[in-house]
Amino acid sequence: TYVITHPCIGVKDASCVDVCPVDCIHPSAGEPGFDEQEQLYINPDECIDCGACEPACPVTAIFEESAVPAEWKSYIKINADFFSGQ
Ligand code: SF4
Ligand code: F3S
Repeated sequence: TYVITHPCIGVKDASCVDVCPVDCIHPSAGEPGFDEQEQLYINPDECIDCGACEPACPVTAIFEESAVPAEWKSYIKINADFFSGQ
C-alpha cells in the first residue's frame, strides 16, 4: 500500500489522481470534500501497489508503506482511517 504524507497538505497537486489506474486516491477534484480537505488519501484496500503515483507527486508526498519516513509514520493510519467509515 502507498501512503500520502505531510508534504501534500496545502498542496493537493492531484497529479497522483490522474495516474492511478484504480482511482483509489480521494477525494479527487469534484468529489465531496475536495475543497475542504487539506490533503488527499490513498485507500489501502484498493491500492494495487503499482507505484505510478509516487514519481507523479511534485512534492514527494507519496511513499510505499514500508518506506514512509519515520516522522510521517502516523500518516499510514491517517490514510486508512479516512476510509474506515465507508
Ligand atoms: Fe494508485 Fe498505484 Fe498509487 Fe496505489 S500505488 S495509489 S494503485 S497509483
Ligand atoms: Fe498530494 Fe502529491 Fe497527490 S501533493 S494530491 S500527493 S500529487
